[in-house]
Amino acid sequence: MAASIGATLIRRKLREPVRVFCRYRYKKKWASSVVGAPAPRLALQFCDVTYGAQLGGLWPSVRAALLSEQKYGALINKFSSVEAVTRGLRSLNAADFLQKAPLTSGLTCYTFPRGDISRFPAARSGTLGLLDYYLLDASSLLPVLALDVQPDHRVLDLCAAPGGKTLALLMEDCRFLAANDASLSRCKRLHRVLQSYIPGNLRTEGRLRLTTLDGTDWPEDSIYDRVLVDAPCTTDRHSLLEEENNIFHRARTRERQSLPLLQSRLLLSGLRAVAPGGDVVYSTCTLSALQNECVVERVLGLAASEYGVHAEIQDLRGFREMFRQTFTFHLDTRLGELVLPQLSANHGPLYLCKIRRVR
Ligand SMILES: C[S@@+](CC[C@H](N)C(=O)[O-])C[C@H]1O[C@@H](n2cnc3c(N)ncnc32)[C@H](O)[C@@H]1O
Repeated sequence: MAASIGATLIRRKLREPVRVFCRYRYKKKWASSVVGAPAPRLALQFCDVTYGAQLGGLWPSVRAALLSEQKYGALINKFSSVEAVTRGLRSLNAADFLQKAPLTSGLTCYTFPRGDISRFPAARSGTLGLLDYYLLDASSLLPVLALDVQPDHRVLDLCAAPGGKTLALLMEDCRFLAANDASLSRCKRLHRVLQSYIPGNLRTEGRLRLTTLDGTDWPEDSIYDRVLVDAPCTTDRHSLLEEENNIFHRARTRERQSLPLLQSRLLLSGLRAVAPGGDVVYSTCTLSALQNECVVERVLGLAASEYGVHAEIQDLRGFREMFRQTFTFHLDTRLGELVLPQLSANHGPLYLCKIRRVR
């Protein structure tokens, strides 16, 4: 009885219009002046309890990495002077981690070898006035690679800002890309990123569409070949290190606690927007099983029972093998794959799960 009341409540909540929190509507300085424990300390207490239990003996090394400087990758802008840029990066002893991967990807991303904590210089603008690379956590390209975008695909990036993965999707060839984000200020950032990296004609010729919509109430059904749901989450690294805009701030407790619901609604939208036979990749940058595999599990059940959308999880173990020289994967994830931060390769956390809509 209790279980069925719970399930009914979840179903009802998934149908209710979502409350878009103010921070997603306009830019606001978060009250770092409010008295109380600093948000990063609250985040650390939470992580020690939750991830200590979830990761067991792995947690101390993951914790040390999360509290240390993150490792970046340089995603090459294929619209810049690629040869000169890559020559410069090779001279720094960086290498393209995708070079040996048996994938048909248009992406090139340079990283420093394991154990090397060098940093990339800031990107520079080339002859066309476009920046030559975009610095990001190299593991955040995995969701884009797992989507396996093909030139005839229509792709939806449901939570796109500030745009690292949108840029990567544009470096892959696709017929049409719809990039969306509910936050107006973050959409403006996305727009600036695209202006700095993508030639004007490609931005205006109808191959790319930018929208600022609530992704939980997506108006298009069953039309995309690929959908990326890179969901808002507790962004563990940021929460452990930065006071500003920290979701562990006491004033944001309700927002934090409702993240799994928001994530579920976004993933459900993604599954409805993709056409049968198409794939959705759900990703986050948290280690939290509640925000990762629990969301996937719950949404697969609800999509089938409430909307007649049947979907299956795709095995990414081969994919994990392909990249195990560069990233440290958790070998015990129930569904999907999880990149664990480690001091020798301080990427992640990054969770991804690939889901195919079968009907
Ligand atoms: C993890 S970030 C996305 C990062 C982005 N994919 C990238 O690679 O740069 C999550 C994004 O979800 C957006 N978001 C939050 N709620 C949303 C909603 N209801 N619909 C669409 N986007 C939403 C946030 O504004 C935020 O930009």
